[in-house]
Amino acid sequence: MLVLGLESSCDETAAAVTCGGRVLAEKVRSQIDLHQKYGGVVPEIASRAHLEAVAALTRDVLSEARLKLTELDGLAVTQGPGLVGALLVAVSFAKGLALATGLPLTGVNHVQAHALAPFLYTQEPPPPNLQFPLAALVASGGHTSLFFAENYLQFKLLGQTLDDAAGEAFDKFAKLLGLGYPGGAVTEELALGGNPGAFSLTRPMLKDGLNFSFSGLKTQVMGLYKEHNLENEPASSQALKDLAASFQAAAAEVLVTKLVSAVKKTGACGAVISGGVACNRVLRKEAQTALDKIGCPLWAPKPVWCADNGAMISFLGQKQLEKKHLLLPLSAEALPRWPVDSALA
Ligand code: KG4
Ligand code: ZN
Repeated sequence: MLVLGLESSCDETAAAVTCGGRVLAEKVRSQIDLHQKYGGVVPEIASRAHLEAVAALTRDVLSEARLKLTELDGLAVTQGPGLVGALLVAVSFAKGLALATGLPLTGVNHVQAHALAPFLYTQEPPPPNLQFPLAALVASGGHTSLFFAENYLQFKLLGQTLDDAAGEAFDKFAKLLGLGYPGGAVTEELALGGNPGAFSLTRPMLKDGLNFSFSGLKTQVMGLYKEHNLENEPASSQALKDLAASFQAAAAEVLVTKLVSAVKKTGACGAVISGGVACNRVLRKEAQTALDKIGCPLWAPKPVWCADNGAMISFLGQKQLEKKHLLLPLSAEALPRWPVDSALA
């Protein structure tokens, strides 16, 4: 089944054509340059930039896949969660395409799509032991959630953040140090030369069920920053590298510990880490080590598919279209808040 997937939930416009998990063509246009000077995503700027990009990206992926719109079998679009004005751009555009072509259109939950990114490939399909049920951790700028996925469509929420998302914590950490937005990759870079044991940070809610809390970590970091007079340190100083490494180690330990608990609790056949934070090499390494210890395979998509992309939308869209699940009428709205469990309704 050939499906075009469109994504505009936050600050990346993305389009892709997939067939099964195979990605035939994909494009992502990031808006980071537009939002950087504001230190975060400005919703109106995001919507306008999506509007300028969505048609061109669609044309580009179709031409790269050497397909005409009419040769597709279906359309998929991120219906939520996300910024309402941003979501509406791809949702409205996709409805227009559906109206013009008569193709079926399905609305995809962005967070659920992140969890299925390990199924994407360009050359070699994933190994046959990538099997359900899976315990999936999605850690991004807006979400930190743990799921038990029985199959592509049946997801149960096991736990989620009670305050900041993990990516948000990285973004706030970087903002405090004046490292710019988004903060994940720059924090990881700074932490490279740091000692993760230099500052002792407590691991919030580590032994406390499967929910997360990251706002306390941010408060601890702010306290240490003031206490050690780090305001005047140059960004390249050893103390800031140590702080970045200590923060990253704490965040990674919490995420990995909960993922391991989720696997043990559910008896899942495999574990997934996805979402932008799963680009983090320390997190990936720690997760691999911990899951190896309990003999559970870990599936971490390559970084471009951990971050926001159209291929994951197209892939889950195809699974939904096959089951005639969540077909969007032309009257459908964007869903800025859409818990994954209710994607099953
Ligand atoms: O999944 P994503 O691209 O967009 C959302 O759906 O939010 O995730 C973006 C988030 C940002 O908060 C960013 O700082 C974080 O992922 N991120 C990272 C890394 N790369 C991106 N966090 C930690 N380490 C990284 N290397
Ligand atoms: Zn995302």
